[in-house]
Amino acid sequence: MSRIGLIGAMDEEIALLLQGMDDKEEVKRAGISFVQGLLHGKNVVVCKSGVGKVNAAMTTQVLIDYFRVEMIWFTGVAGAVNPTLDIGDIVISSSCQQHDMDVTPLGYERGIIPYQEISDFPANEDLIQLAEEACDKLCTDHNFIVGKVLSGDQFVADRVLVSELYETMAGACVEMEGSAVAQVCYMNEIPYVVLRSMSDKADGTADVNFAEFTEKAASRSFEIVNDMLQRI
Ligand code: ADE
Repeated sequence: MSRIGLIGAMDEEIALLLQGMDDKEEVKRAGISFVQGLLHGKNVVVCKSGVGKVNAAMTTQVLIDYFRVEMIWFTGVAGAVNPTLDIGDIVISSSCQQHDMDVTPLGYERGIIPYQEISDFPANEDLIQLAEEACDKLCTDHNFIVGKVLSGDQFVADRVLVSELYETMAGACVEMEGSAVAQVCYMNEIPYVVLRSMSDKADGTADVNFAEFTEKAASRSFEIVNDMLQRI
């Protein structure tokens, strides 16, 4: 039976996964707590990476090397960048790219990693489809899109920056981990998908909205993962 790594950055993003698990066993590696067990009869390893790309990259590599997961799903919240998205709506990653990778003084476009064949890491098509089927069923009073997830070590709360991320990088949403997970998965040839529910619009009120809507948004993202697990 294939083993799935499930990552969230914060407690709110993994709480419901942990609640639903059977035969739980906790193992600590690199300061991160990994919980192995069963969810809907599927072999999973659930973990909280912590916030930011370094934490996410390290956690992803441990999941691959030590826990031997065959795929990785990231669940959590994000700031909306595509103006059609509202708080609570869902983004399924078509790909992930770092918006704070900036080597523009050397002539590279924003987000391009120099000397590397790829900087916008595509998510796995089958996992995107599985997530889309879940959203078709579950997103009855909110929307979902498949789009590019942008990541950076920065909480975006600025209207001008959000429109730049939309205009220049075609981002759907912005968060702080997905692209690190995506890059590590790409280097290791492991399929991944990122699922994000919008907690805010990454604008001047993002801090207030984030505090108010994170728990609800995280539970929406969890519902998608939960449905995917039952059908994979
Ligand atoms: N996660 C949720 N909202 C975010 C934002 N506005 N910026 C970065 N990460 C986020």
